[in-house]
Formats: sequence, C-alpha cells, structure tokens
Amino acid sequence: MSNDENRVLIFDTTLRDGEQSPGATMSHQEKLEIAGLLDDMGVDIIEAGFPIASEGDFAAVSEIAKNAKNAVICGLSRANFKDIDRCWEAVKHAKAPRIHTFIGTSPLHRAIPNLTMDEMAERIHDTVTHARNLCDDVQWSPMDATRTEWEYLARVVEIAIKAGATTINIPDTVGYTAPNESADLIRRLIAEVPGADEVVFSTHCHNDLGMATANSLAAVAGGARQIECTINGLGERAGNTALEEVVMAMKVRHDIMPYATGIDSTKIMNISRRVATVSGFAVQFNKAIVGKNAFAHESGIHQDGMLKNAETFEIMRPEDVGLAETNIVMGKHSGRAALRSKLSDLGYHLADNQLNDVFVRFKALADLKKEVFDDDLIALVTDSTATDQADHLQLVSMTVVCGTEGPQRATMTISVDGRETSVEATGDGPVDAAFNAVKAIYPHHAVLQLYQVNAVTEGTDAQATVSVRMEEEGRIATGQSADTDTVVASVKAYVNALNRLIVRREKTGGGLREVSYKDVS
Ligand code: KIV
Ligand code: ZN
Repeated sequence: MSNDENRVLIFDTTLRDGEQSPGATMSHQEKLEIAGLLDDMGVDIIEAGFPIASEGDFAAVSEIAKNAKNAVICGLSRANFKDIDRCWEAVKHAKAPRIHTFIGTSPLHRAIPNLTMDEMAERIHDTVTHARNLCDDVQWSPMDATRTEWEYLARVVEIAIKAGATTINIPDTVGYTAPNESADLIRRLIAEVPGADEVVFSTHCHNDLGMATANSLAAVAGGARQIECTINGLGERAGNTALEEVVMAMKVRHDIMPYATGIDSTKIMNISRRVATVSGFAVQFNKAIVGKNAFAHESGIHQDGMLKNAETFEIMRPEDVGLAETNIVMGKHSGRAALRSKLSDLGYHLADNQLNDVFVRFKALADLKKEVFDDDLIALVTDSTATDQADHLQLVSMTVVCGTEGPQRATMTISVDGRETSVEATGDGPVDAAFNAVKAIYPHHAVLQLYQVNAVTEGTDAQATVSVRMEEEGRIATGQSADTDTVVASVKAYVNALNRLIVRREKTGGGLREVSYKDVS
C-alpha cells in the first residue's frame, strides 16, 4: 500500500485544455454532466474552464463550482487582475475553490507581452499575491517551462511560492521534453528552489511527440504530486496526458510506480465514451485503455491463449476500467427492462425519458439486425443527434437514388427552426448528393474538413458511425451519428456539425454566414 507521500493528485483539465482543441465545443449541460462524472470518479481537482474567455465559460465554471460534491473547482486566468477577479467570481461558489494563473516564461513567450525578465518577475509577484488575497488555494504555471532558461525558471518559481502559490505547475506546453529531462527538472526545482518543500509540484504535459504520459509519470518519479490530464487525452494539437493512461499505469505497474490516486478506475470507460460523444472526438480504435480494440483479440494464437488464461495477453482486466461482459443477448424480442439492465452493465444509467427514446431506436434497429451487439447499443446511446429538440436543423426524411448510372440523386426534407423545406439535389455519389441537398436547404460557407466512416460491428447490416468536421472563419465543429444506413448517418452527422457551428456563432457572435433559407418545395 502507498503512504500519503505517494498520493498523486489528479487534476483534470478536459473542460479547459481539452475543450480548447479545435472543434471540441461542449454545451453548458454537457459540461455540467462531464464535471459531475469527474467528481464522481474521484478526480481531485477539476479545471472547469477559463472564466474570462466568454460568458458561457463563466456560467459553466460558476455552476460546476456550485454543484461539485468533493472535487476542488479551479478556473484559469492570465497574469492580470481582471482575469483573476473574474476567475474568482466564478470559482468562489465551490466548497473548495482554486485560482490557476499563468504566464509564458520562455524567451519566445516573454517576447509577446514584450516584458523584460525583471518586469515579468514583478508581474508574477503582483498577480500571485492578488490571487492569494482572494483565495487560499492558488496554482501558478510558468507556461512553456520546459523551454525556459533554468536560472530564470528557478527564480520565478521562488517568487510565486513567496507570493503565496500553493501549487506550482510545470507545463511542457509544446510536448518538447522527454522522460529523463521531465524527472530531472522537477527533482532539481524541489531540491534547489527555496520554499519548494511547502508546495505541491504538478506536471502538465502535451503529446506532440507522443510522450505526454511517459513524461507525466517521470515527473512523478522526480517528485511531482499532481498530474494534469484529460479524458481520452483530449487537447490542443496532439492532446494532453490521458487520465486513463496515467491512472492505469500506476495501478498495473505499482511495483515500479508505487503511487496512488483517488480515482475509481471502473468509471473510466463510461466517462471516456461520454467525452467522445459530447466533444465530437471519437476515440481511435487502438487507443490505450479506452480504444475499441484495447481488449479485443483477433489472431488465432491470441484467442487461444485468452481462452486458456486471460493473463496471457491482457495486463489488466476489462472490468478494471468498467468494461462489463454480460450474457444477455439483445434482439427484437427484448423488453425495456432488459435494455435498461444491459445499458446499466455497459455503464449507462439513463433517465426514464432517455430510456424511452433509446428503446424506440433500439426496436427499430432490432428490426433491421438479427442481433444487437454491445457496440450497437453504445452507438445508439451516444448518437449525439438523437434527441436534441433545441437543434436548429433536423433531418425529417431523405431518399437517395444511386447506382452505376450517375448522377446520384437525393431528395430531402429538413426542418429549419421548425419550418420544413424539401429539395432534390444531385452529386458525385450518394453522400455528395445528400450533402448538396443539405446545402441547398441551408446555404452556408462552412468547409468540410473531415469525413470518416467506421462500421460499429461486423456484417453487412452493421451500423456505421460517421464523423464530420466543418470549418468556417476559424470556427471548427464536429458532428457524429450512427445508423445502419451509411448515407443517413452521414447526413445526420453533417447536420449535427452545422448545428454545433450555429451554437458557436451564438456564443461568439458571428460564425456561420447564413445566406438565406431557400424554400424550393
Ligand atoms: O499547456 C500549457 O502551458 C497550459 C497552461 C495554461 C497551464 O495549458
Ligand atoms: Zn496545456
């Protein structure tokens, strides 16, 4: 067992750094839901957002702060009084609030506000003092710490500690460091900076070279006792350290990493799926711990070994991360109770109205497929297009004619803010024709950046999950959907992404340039 010295705090920044990844917008309700799941799984500190960034961020951080049961609720702020005051206004409702303030300390980042080293040192002193006068729990980060000169980094860390910071977070902002260097940097800061033994050192790693998890764990070996991470490794560019990876690495290799977290690992799979759905960022199949293939065995030798002893090819049990094996076979004769029980085994606890909605869609699917697999049910539950009555655009009906003789043709009806419009459009293939129909009904200038189709299960009757990413004027939104008809799934995902872009416009003022609603029916 680990003693308290080996307790590592888990600081989750899915709702701040994770949400910063292009296209990963979450609605207010979705943020509250994810915060609740994080709190419930034992995350120590939730970075709920960047309150000065927008009214929406402020409202989400405030409400998360009010609702949190156990976790410390943290907000981010730049190194100025206005940001810090706004952050405090949002987090102060929490039982345990934290202000996180940061400034870029490397030569490249110092050049942006054009501050000398002395001027920046003074700014750090003043802003950390200001934050500490508002809140007892203050975290300070020298952004791009791993590319900051050692002498200057040690100097500003000492200033922040003297000004009252209680946690010093060392960000590898651009994913530049490597494990040995990450461990050495923390070890040296703790050994050489006066006052270092009075604060918690934290590590915050990005994954640009694929080393974020290794660098975070190395920092812990060097003395860090807080890891900043996100669910599924969501985050800018190549993302952040993945919560599930560090937690399971410390659990499975406790012999060489004798540290403990307060995380209930059996809740990992559920939250991973929810974050994938609400962020629009599907988890890659071969992603460690939470990927669809993480516990799948394809080759004969592996399957044979697994049947004899699961430990031959599995270093952790699926149930350790919340993947349950159940025997109930779902089909068209299965009732509501069986569906509820099955979903609960899979980690989905739905309210009655949500269950009713999923049940209707499950029956429709069961009519099309002989057997409904776990992954089919997950796709049904996580289909982000399913029930949102507030969406501006809703697909009402569509028919596509395709075959060897083109052009392919789509007939479609979409409801735009409650008003139904029908069109017929042609295109180079059925999906192109269908997308052209959507564009004829709702003209816009958003550009399709990504279109990706995956089969959820095997067989020609498998559901397809489709992801699309759209961009307009720097705003990016993703949409996902699942259906046994690939073209229907494609249109629903496209419409879903457009709805998210519209929400972004409402949030940021501007965005989707809507040409006009055309009624050609
Ligand atoms: O990557 C980074 O440096 C950050 C800071 C704001 C902590 O996210
Ligand atoms: Zn970051």
